[in-house]
Amino acid sequence: MPTEPALPEGRPATEVLAELRALREADAPTRGGRTFAYVYDAGLDGLDELAAEAYTTFATVNGLDPTVFPSVARLENDVVGSVAALLGAPGAQGTFTSGGTESILLAVKTARDHARSERGITAPQLLLPSTAHAAFHKAAAYLGLAPVVVPVDPVTFRADAAAMAAALTDRTALVVASAPSYAHGVIDPVAEIAAAAAARGVLCHVDACIGGWILPYLRRAGRAVEPFDLSVPGVTSLSVDLHKYGYADKGASVVLHRDATLRRHQYFAHAGWPGYPVVNPTVQGTKSGGLLAQAWAVLRHVGEEGYTALAGRVGEASDRLLAGLRSMDGVRVLGDPAAGLVAFTVAGEDGVTPDLSLLLHLADEMRELGWYLQPQLSFDGLPPNLHLTLTPATVGQVGSLLDDLAVALDKARALEPVVVDPELASFAAGLDPETLGPDEVAGVLAFAGLGEGAGLPRRAAPVLVLLDALPGPLKERLLAEFIGSVFRI
Ligand SMILES: Cc1ncc(COP(=O)(O)O)c(C=O)c1O
Repeated sequence: MPTEPALPEGRPATEVLAELRALREADAPTRGGRTFAYVYDAGLDGLDELAAEAYTTFATVNGLDPTVFPSVARLENDVVGSVAALLGAPGAQGTFTSGGTESILLAVKTARDHARSERGITAPQLLLPSTAHAAFHKAAAYLGLAPVVVPVDPVTFRADAAAMAAALTDRTALVVASAPSYAHGVIDPVAEIAAAAAARGVLCHVDACIGGWILPYLRRAGRAVEPFDLSVPGVTSLSVDLHKYGYADKGASVVLHRDATLRRHQYFAHAGWPGYPVVNPTVQGTKSGGLLAQAWAVLRHVGEEGYTALAGRVGEASDRLLAGLRSMDGVRVLGDPAAGLVAFTVAGEDGVTPDLSLLLHLADEMRELGWYLQPQLSFDGLPPNLHLTLTPATVGQVGSLLDDLAVALDKARALEPVVVDPELASFAAGLDPETLGPDEVAGVLAFAGLGEGAGLPRRAAPVLVLLDALPGPLKERLLAEFIGSVFRI
């Protein structure tokens, strides 16, 4: 029998809310344009309040059953209709989902089931450029597809269309292109990849999770943007997150298919149990109508002109940031960023070779100054870098960001380089992630300063330099253990 009650005595709502608000104080700010990852700030007065009220209005509605809550079907058809009008083609059909990962999971499930039923493929492959979002690897792992990864061009960071075409096999269920990729913010050659896929009767998904709601509006604002959506022949599905450049609250994305026949493979229906007949278009069963309602309200409030103006502001922030970065000594912008994402690396003493330790010191120094820039580690010959997601709220910050970057870079250059302890490196090299026991994992984490009870380190550089040096599977195992230690009760 448990001796402790599961919950303390109930407390007044004001006290509970005060505790929640206090918890936010240690978080990175989500508004104000100093956090360059994870958050999308339109900088529009009243937008957060609108989303919150729309959410509240629908919070208790269950999106599981549109026959009982017809408002849900109306709102979803409106949202998906807008997405199809912007990014679709005649006949396109889609679904509102909880985010990019869920949209991608559903696109991969669709392709797997289509490949099985239409082409008799029982051991499907998922063909990806190396910059495809990790969510595709997750989908492959969940759904039993074998990922086939093709390196991107090391100069442009775009998918290599010819190499992708050459990697198509009779088992390929789906080919992926990004518009743009998260890591470097560059658009893959969608038309060439989709044409090669179509020539083999293979489906092609465009991951426009981050770009889908900004690229068309950048085009409308007068910038050149190559075609990337379902209007491109051969593209059979597309994902776009409304919780990114649509500025809806988190939990809002759409997956769009070329037609209803394809979308049918996405659905799950089950009548073989004694409960209510189940048909789920998405991964979730019960889902609040609130997320859909807030996305609907934000889209309708901002409108075409509003999104065009917001895209223009992101474009302006990007132009200013790129010009500033390109004029900084030792800084190299990676590729030719298309939308609001910018990745740059920093060279060490030779002025050319990316210097991981310097880069991570720079990120830590920037954090001390109240900015969050996202470190990305080296991968398969692609350099480590710092990644920035620009939003309209960042436009007014670019000047002070660049000033602080110059200061932080000088400070970072004056710091001792972080090196991986050779003893730890050789110990780690001998570890097999498959058979690693809890004691060995704890040993490595403690060495990295992430031991039990140690809390989060103030500076990330020592941990990330070590992580960068480890082989992929070991990295993954340690990351899982680390996050397991964060969520330990
Ligand atoms: C290109 C791309 N695809 C997929 C995702 C995954 O989206 P989510 O984090 O909403 O699941 C992201 C997120 O940044 C992304 O940028």
